[in-house]
Amino acid sequence: MDTYPNERLGITQEDIKARFNDGFKKTRYEELEKDVLDTTNNLLLLVAKKDGHVVGYCRGLKSQDHNDSVELYVSAEYRDRGIGNALWQKRFTWFDQNKYTILEVAEYNANAIRFHEQHGFIQDQSLKQPTYENWNILPNGKKIPVVIMVRKKECI
Ligand SMILES: CC(C)(COP(=O)(O)OP(=O)(O)OC[C@H]1O[C@@H](n2cnc3c(N)ncnc32)[C@H](O)[C@@H]1OP(=O)(O)O)[C@@H](O)C(=O)NCCC(=O)NCCS
Repeated sequence: MDTYPNERLGITQEDIKARFNDGFKKTRYEELEKDVLDTTNNLLLLVAKKDGHVVGYCRGLKSQDHNDSVELYVSAEYRDRGIGNALWQKRFTWFDQNKYTILEVAEYNANAIRFHEQHGFIQDQSLKQPTYENWNILPNGKKIPVVIMVRKKECI
């Protein structure tokens, strides 16, 4: 909830709540369940726990020609302790090492952009990936602007 509201673009907390609550929750749970039950080894869901509570998670997807870094979130009070790096590293070793990796990030999420740059990603607007689940389209029609970042396989 701290990541996506943006005053300049008029994206409010209410917009974000409307997007990520209600109808979204059901499909969300179905999706996560799919990841957990997946037997193809093409979907990954990793969680980081502290004292039995989930404090971070990430998802990954192996596509035909590339890897998708689908999500990476750490609870605000647990950031800057290496959890994001640990999740990233674990997911990265699971990815196909001979393929490139892409992700989408809100263009104003400077922290996440920097985090991924430190992990070898560069911004690349020439890659036209279909927006993952249209996650950035809000119920009132506003759109979270995104940038696509890529980590080429030769970074490995
Ligand atoms: C981006 C995000 C996942 C990073 O997670 P994180 O757990 O804070 O990341 P880390 O702690 O591993 O690394 C962050 C900083 O902590 C430092 N750090 C790493 N290990 C550390 C440790 N053991 N102790 C203290 N600091 C540490 C890192 O060097 C890094 O510092 P730097 O950015 O100055 O280099 C997190 O900020 C987040 O959830 N943001 C909101 C959601 C989001 O934007 N997700 C990405 C969408 S694409």
